[in-house]
Amino acid sequence: MNERTKQRRVVVVGQGYVGLPLAMRAVEVGYDVVGYDVDESRVKRLAAGESYVEDISATQLQEALATGQFTATTDDQLIEGFDVAVITVPTPLREGAPDLSYIEESSRTLASFLRPGATVILESTTYPGTTEELVAKILEDGSGLAAGTDFHLGYSPERIDPGNQQWNFVNTPKVVSGIDVRSLAAVQGFYDTLVDKTVSVASPKEAELTKLLENTFRHVNIALVNELAMFAHELGIDVWQAIDAASTKPFGFMPFTPGPGVGGHCLPIDPSYLSWRVKRSTGRSFRFVELANDVNDHMPDYVVQRLVRALNRHKKAVNGSRILLLGLAYKKNTGDARESPAMVVAERLLGLGAEVRAVDPHVVESHVNQRIMRVELSTDEVDKADAVVLLTDHDTFDLGMVGEHGRLVLDARRRIKGANVEMI
Ligand SMILES: NC(=O)c1ccc[n+]([C@@H]2O[C@H](COP(=O)([O-])OP(=O)(O)OC[C@H]3O[C@@H](n4cnc5c(N)ncnc54)[C@H](O)[C@@H]3O)[C@@H](O)[C@H]2O)c1
Repeated sequence: MNERTKQRRVVVVGQGYVGLPLAMRAVEVGYDVVGYDVDESRVKRLAAGESYVEDISATQLQEALATGQFTATTDDQLIEGFDVAVITVPTPLREGAPDLSYIEESSRTLASFLRPGATVILESTTYPGTTEELVAKILEDGSGLAAGTDFHLGYSPERIDPGNQQWNFVNTPKVVSGIDVRSLAAVQGFYDTLVDKTVSVASPKEAELTKLLENTFRHVNIALVNELAMFAHELGIDVWQAIDAASTKPFGFMPFTPGPGVGGHCLPIDPSYLSWRVKRSTGRSFRFVELANDVNDHMPDYVVQRLVRALNRHKKAVNGSRILLLGLAYKKNTGDARESPAMVVAERLLGLGAEVRAVDPHVVESHVNQRIMRVELSTDEVDKADAVVLLTDHDTFDLGMVGEHGRLVLDARRRIKGANVEMI
């Protein structure tokens, strides 16, 4: 066991895509870890050694359980006596506004077990000011202790990229902050035991903004190429070749590629946290974010429009056509279908009367509309489809076969070659 982590008790509130990998890493370096979650079924699965987060294997989880240093629980009494608590709960939008109720509830829970000298860290993505204005107040009110004087408080954004083989929790630099010098030292000291490199910023606000900057940057650039792709198509220009060519510039350009829209828990949501905060504090609109939302939200409809036109050229209506969708997850090689644009495409096609069949070996059944027939990718399925649409380019797909057999293929990822293939 690492000397610095000896006897130290860590609580991770929320055992999802962010919290579970963090808990596993903390066990690995020698902490005693409580993974606290309010979801009974998730906790049961964890206690049984069954992982629902793709980056954590069942073996890794079982090894953590076997050390006796990891407990998954819904029992808040096990939070008692924590040295470090990290909050990794959802931050969704409700009717376009940030919903911080999960952070509020977690903070209230932690407050009743807060002891002098302990450290609380928020990791959930949120607008600048949340840690200092909201979390600090709830912790102080619930514990009777003073933030900074009695306990440490900070913010550290998560940069986890599910499915990324090169950049993982340990080798991705972690941005850290604290509400004062001692809090920063406590927060940075904790993450220095978990990751290769920490990067400190002046206060939690800068750390909160860092995460939103990263995701807004991606959101806006994806919207830019998506809009460009739509115009280039109308002008008869191959946007993909232009992106490839621009990518040969060794400086000042970073390639982003068009697609069927954005999904997951970050891009469709995080930039709106920032624009909401800007609007509330300054009264002004964050126009880049609004424009990017407009363009990216339109992409599933654009895919459907392109399919309608392509079928029309084959003298076919969508109504009654058999459409094979490849990929339902929002991201390749993951089973995460939250906010996935592929689901929107499927819903629209069902609404137009298509017979929708979908292949996605990663996405579990319960997350998918029952009217979408789940099938395996086979030559027979491709042969019988009036059209095939590639939405998520999972590595397991035999796209050579699709290009060879598809009568009409619409490729939203530029992965398929063939005489009958068109790119969005
Ligand atoms: N998924 C990602 O790739 C990613 C990356 C970076 C940042 N984030 C951010 O991290 C945060 C968590 O995201 P996630 O993807 O891990 O979410 P998730 O939905 O996978 O997991 C959150 C967990 O928190 C639990 N929870 C909710 N309220 C609770 C409470 N009061 N006490 C204890 N547990 C509670 C839920 O039951 C759930 O298991 C969000 O703010 C998200 O924006 C996510």
